[in-house]
Amino acid sequence: MNVLVIGNGGREHAILLALKKSPKVDKLYCMKGNAGTAQIAENVNVDYMNIDAVLSFAEEHPDIDYYVVAPDDPLAIGLVDALEGIGKRCFGPRKNAAIIESSKAFSKSLMKKYGIPTAEAETFDSYDKALEYVRLKGAPIVLKADGLALGKGVLVCETLKEAEEGLKEIMLDKAFGAAGNVIVVEECLRGLKYVPGEEVSVLAFTDGKTILPMISACDHKRAFDGDKGLNTGGMGTFSPCPFWTEALEKEVLETIMIPTMNAMNAEGRTFKGCLYFGLMRTDKGMKVVEYNSRFGDPETQVILPMLKTDLMEIFEAVTDERLSEIKIEWDKGACVCVVLASGGYPLSYTKGKEITIGDTKDAILVHAGTAIKDGKLVTNGGRVLDVVAKGSDIEEARAKAYNAVSNINWENMQYRSDIGIKYRKG
Ligand code: AMP
Ligand code: GLY
Repeated sequence: MNVLVIGNGGREHAILLALKKSPKVDKLYCMKGNAGTAQIAENVNVDYMNIDAVLSFAEEHPDIDYYVVAPDDPLAIGLVDALEGIGKRCFGPRKNAAIIESSKAFSKSLMKKYGIPTAEAETFDSYDKALEYVRLKGAPIVLKADGLALGKGVLVCETLKEAEEGLKEIMLDKAFGAAGNVIVVEECLRGLKYVPGEEVSVLAFTDGKTILPMISACDHKRAFDGDKGLNTGGMGTFSPCPFWTEALEKEVLETIMIPTMNAMNAEGRTFKGCLYFGLMRTDKGMKVVEYNSRFGDPETQVILPMLKTDLMEIFEAVTDERLSEIKIEWDKGACVCVVLASGGYPLSYTKGKEITIGDTKDAILVHAGTAIKDGKLVTNGGRVLDVVAKGSDIEEARAKAYNAVSNINWENMQYRSDIGIKYRKG
């Protein structure tokens, strides 16, 4: 099979690296890709947010058998629907199911209607009514822009003043554009032991009939060590999550995952693809913080290297709705991913810095914002490289990853030195 993966980041490179291991896969393509994807796939310079352009490309390339739509934006505008409309086989939900991520108002009302545990919330399209509600509830309180906002549309407000300012930013000043026309105001959840949050990301394959959770992962969202600084797309991940157990997985399957799959079916919005559950362990049990309609980035970078089963076989089983026939196997150890970013990220940063790479043989280098310029590897984004290492436990994987990091450099490289020690006891 010839397979095309849509997207430009570390997640897409990690998916391509997993597909490359499949005996079923001949040739790989990536639209648009980066310098890393170019090493194992043919990069295709087409704007994937332009549905007509993607369809023209697909018509001209009948040799491509399968499309993987990885990022949230093309899923939200219905790229899978369009490709299926011209007879292409795809991995990823249709538009009417991708709404579980693209509208937080939708996902909140779904959870409320079907009794899926989550923070208590109300949705508003009026600034005045939202303000009244925020004042009634008081701080701490969480504000969420309804639409997609590059992972930045959530404000956890510790004081009423912060909440009032945040509400104005989102609804009146339109800090996240039209994504803030509607707002979800929700109760602030607290973790069981580790204040403020004790979170785990669990991704699952589903064909609408069966749902199979992957191994657990934890994300470090803040820019700097000790969870300081601004929220980012993710500065590093590790797997497995230390508090995730088989018993907890069983509980979450029964109270959250299967009910979500069934709820989407009942709404006529069958979800096929990778459904991402952002969960928090609270004193009232596991609750949903968010759903994503896709693989997480950088969670995928620590999950797929541990996958022993052929990823292409799983993708096809999802498409053909025979996931119940698949048994997914995982490596036993641990995996750590350290994100190397451009200095200044997530605010302003300079691109085009030459990257030097020494001995990284114990790690896997997953590329995010990289490019080749005048024959040299250069930075081309905020998050640039993901250094991924496996080990028998988190400590060993961490040591290998940071050893490789010490042999990579460019001017103003920025990274966190505490990836993987988030939930360490003591
Ligand atoms: P999201 O983009 O929905 O994942 O939210 C970003 C981050 O905000 C989450 O990873 C949590 O750390 C935090 N967050 C979101 N909702 C809540 C909530 N109801 N209570 C506490 N923290 C939250
Ligand atoms: N790492 C969080 C996300 O992919 O949304």
